Amino acid sequence: MHKIVIKGGVPLNGEVQVSGAKNAVLPLLFATLLAEGQSEICNVPALRDIDTAVALLDILGATTERVADCCRIDATAIRSDEAPYDLVRTMRASVLVLGPLLARCGHARVSLPGGCAIGARPIDQHLKGFEALGARITLDHGYVEAQAERLRGAHIIFDMPTVGGTENLLMAAALAEGETIIENAAREPEIVQLAEALISMGAKIEGAGTARISIQGVSSLRPLEITVMPDRIEAGTFMIAAAMTGGDLLVRGARQQDQEVLLQKMVEAGVMIHPEQGGLRVVGPDKLLPVDVRTSAFPGFPTDMQAQFMVMMALARGTSRISENVFENRFMHVCELQRMGANISIDGHSAVIHGVEQLLGAPVMATDLRASACLVLAGLAAENTTEVSRIYHLDRGYERIEEKLAGLGARIERVSA
Ligand code: UD1
Repeated sequence: MHKIVIKGGVPLNGEVQVSGAKNAVLPLLFATLLAEGQSEICNVPALRDIDTAVALLDILGATTERVADCCRIDATAIRSDEAPYDLVRTMRASVLVLGPLLARCGHARVSLPGGCAIGARPIDQHLKGFEALGARITLDHGYVEAQAERLRGAHIIFDMPTVGGTENLLMAAALAEGETIIENAAREPEIVQLAEALISMGAKIEGAGTARISIQGVSSLRPLEITVMPDRIEAGTFMIAAAMTGGDLLVRGARQQDQEVLLQKMVEAGVMIHPEQGGLRVVGPDKLLPVDVRTSAFPGFPTDMQAQFMVMMALARGTSRISENVFENRFMHVCELQRMGANISIDGHSAVIHGVEQLLGAPVMATDLRASACLVLAGLAAENTTEVSRIYHLDRGYERIEEKLAGLGARIERVSA
């Protein structure tokens, strides 16, 4: 067990390189199951969730190899079509093997993910989509079993834009017979990258990045070769770190088109942001201004940046309101921030934040991935020392975060707890 120890109050300056996007790599890794032959995915970050996904591919019978930041996967011989509970419970995105396995093998058995720290997160929309494609879905011992000799194209209308549901159905429909239309599809940049990847494999897909995607099924796909897009959530987290500490930071790999709303909200808060070659330069203001935020599906404000934005607002001059509309129970960082002197109260789906002059270092505990990032941000801006424990959450989604922050002047280290 490790913890992160931060002595706060140092403005972050310099340049930082954003890693490949975790949420883009995961579906890309599972998309390799759709084809025979060796696929190669590059700019893959070293993260615990990626290790879990690769372990799952190994269990399914793919041969996997990591060379520098590339991952080579050969899924020619698949010997199992089961994603076991032990892996799915540590990473919900394991359910993304359902679509590829069903399309390629005609059968898949995947443990139901169950509850998680940020809410119930069902997969009913994924299953509804597979049923529309002609799959028979049964439940057995906590596992979902899906079966279909050959999937058939269908018209699917999601109840809500679901990122994982859209990805799972895109992959399944790529090998289905005939045309599939997905309406109310999620529009996240990671979905656009998955669609581009599938197209490069020979799939026929139009409309990714809009709410209506059409897929003309093909009978087989070629292996994949792709470089992963930069992680917009990691980029946003560094941008907020610069803003909160009054720093001046070039975030290399940050892309305006992936973060329009976040950028707008940061500018409203008084942060200076301008594009520079290869990234975005962020200069923190003397005093942050309060800004209201409502999370929603892309292109709305990302729920994965909610906790980080809240800690910035904890230091703003005035009162702001943040509403969480994507996940229930995603305010667990609030209690920990209160222990650091933040003045935040919860009112249903909203948090009301009265800015304070200064946060105070304290021992705090991470509860989920983005909550951990918000506690690190709090520690960077706080007086004295902050110790963040349970940082295995952080290691699921941030590559070498303490090294990257130390390189920008932060006094931060990882120590044995
Ligand atoms: C993905 C991201 C996660 C991000 C989330 C929302 C990955 C690996 N994870 O998660 O970081 O926070 O998008 O941007 O990319 N829902 C249902 N039924 C379903 C599917 C979803 O009710 O079958 C609900 C969820 O409970 C949630 C909402 O729809 O309230 C959005 O979830 P979804 O977009 O599916 O999130 P994930 O794909 O799990």
